[in-house]
Amino acid sequence: MRIVILPDPAAVAAFGAQQLISQLQQKPSSVLGLATGSSPVQLYKRLVQAVQAGQVSMAEVTTFNLDEYLGLATTHSQSYRHFMNTHLFDQVDIRLAATHVLDGLSSDPQKACSAYEALIRDQGGVDLQLLGIGRNGHIGFNEPSSSLVSRTRVKTLTEDTVAANRRFFQPDEFQPHLALTMGIGTIMDAKQILLIATGQDKAEALRHTIEGPVSAHCPASILQMHAKATLVIDKAAAQGL
Ligand code: GLP
Repeated sequence: MRIVILPDPAAVAAFGAQQLISQLQQKPSSVLGLATGSSPVQLYKRLVQAVQAGQVSMAEVTTFNLDEYLGLATTHSQSYRHFMNTHLFDQVDIRLAATHVLDGLSSDPQKACSAYEALIRDQGGVDLQLLGIGRNGHIGFNEPSSSLVSRTRVKTLTEDTVAANRRFFQPDEFQPHLALTMGIGTIMDAKQILLIATGQDKAEALRHTIEGPVSAHCPASILQMHAKATLVIDKAAAQGL
């Protein structure tokens, strides 16, 4: 596991964006695994700027997002499909048909998860998977105690995760407690992994991820077993190391 500690969130976003840009320059038809949450917002902004400046193209790229809330329509402002369209897809030259996000309104969620796995395999697997991390060490929506070899499936969110994400919802708005997520085994199949994290809130999770034992209690700790995983974090997030 390669650990890169940078001064602040802006440096983390710049470094992360450059990793994606280099990947796309080397292989324009890359399959990218993408993440949502506040962590990658600035990274996507820089990627958009690079595409709009003609530095790189996403025309041949295929993407698979990590997760989606169960019960939210794609048009809901807090759905991860909406997030991705807003922050990235609508602003770059990617083909919308080549962007994949699990369907939060699927009538048969488990079938949708199996189909997602098959689609990733058909595309030759993920070349570069971008990850954030939950303050409880989750990756995607693989909460603590998730099987370290799990595949894409439905997960119940922990109270801590629901509380952490409440800030994105209106006070009286329905907030899902269930999600569809790539499994930890699915994530580990990616050829390269790039995790970004900033802020003191993530320090404890990163201490367990980097220095703790590999354990389902901290799902991100499995990244210690990946041959090509890079963690890009700022000083505040590195405080516990
Ligand atoms: C969310 C998402 C994760 C994300 C994490 C951190 O619940 N499911 O994919 O990495 O929590 O989010 P943030 O970047 O907003 O701190």
